[in-house]
Amino acid sequence: MDRRWQVFPDVTSVQAVARERIAAAASEAILARGAFHLVLAGGSTPRGLYASLRDLETDWKAWHIYFGDERVLPADDPERNSRMAHEAWLDQVPIPREQIHPIATEQGLDSSVRAYQTVMSRVDYFDLVLLGLGEDGHTASLFPGQYWGEGDSAPDVLAVRDAPKPPPKRVSLSAHRLSRSRQVLFLVTGVGKRDAVSRWRREARIPALAIDPSSGVDVLLDAAASPDR
Ligand code: 6PG
Repeated sequence: MDRRWQVFPDVTSVQAVARERIAAAASEAILARGAFHLVLAGGSTPRGLYASLRDLETDWKAWHIYFGDERVLPADDPERNSRMAHEAWLDQVPIPREQIHPIATEQGLDSSVRAYQTVMSRVDYFDLVLLGLGEDGHTASLFPGQYWGEGDSAPDVLAVRDAPKPPPKRVSLSAHRLSRSRQVLFLVTGVGKRDAVSRWRREARIPALAIDPSSGVDVLLDAAASPDR
């Protein structure tokens, strides 16, 4: 599987390149298929990127938004990945609300897994999946030592009950489902991620390694997160 590492001087340049990659993926998908299916990463890294998408010139009514994972918290909790994306971006652009698919974890862990499984049954290949990387090598809510849902028979949506990164209860797309995408783009910044990147580059069995789309993955790093620097 092809893994393409690109190192940039700082977070701003990582965000600028990621924005261009999203814009290009959107225009290609909309031209070719009339729709753009994008999976958002959670955590704090993507916030600046999401804010930079507000002024994108695009056909917003063709965009369909999904989440790679969500924390089991009330819908308006500041730690919800969906709340971050809405505040930074989604509330400022005219994507039809029925085309934004939050993982409704406020309904409880098991019922939100079942509900999102239904959402996933309606979309075949994603056009672009955005992912982050944790300091322990986790991605989405796939954590070391837990079940990542690899292989064709894996479910699309996983219930996570003891995540080491709070909160412990989460819903995550599986490694298999996250890999069913035309493109996968990791955004990794900050010196705290350097060790995880170094292990990943040595093919250590971290959850990020399990994301293996046929087209390979692109990893956008700032210098702080890159072991070469
Ligand atoms: C989450 C995220 C998680 C995140 C990484 C990196 O819900 O916590 O989905 O996978 O992407 O932990 O987080 P930061 O971007 O905050 O470093």
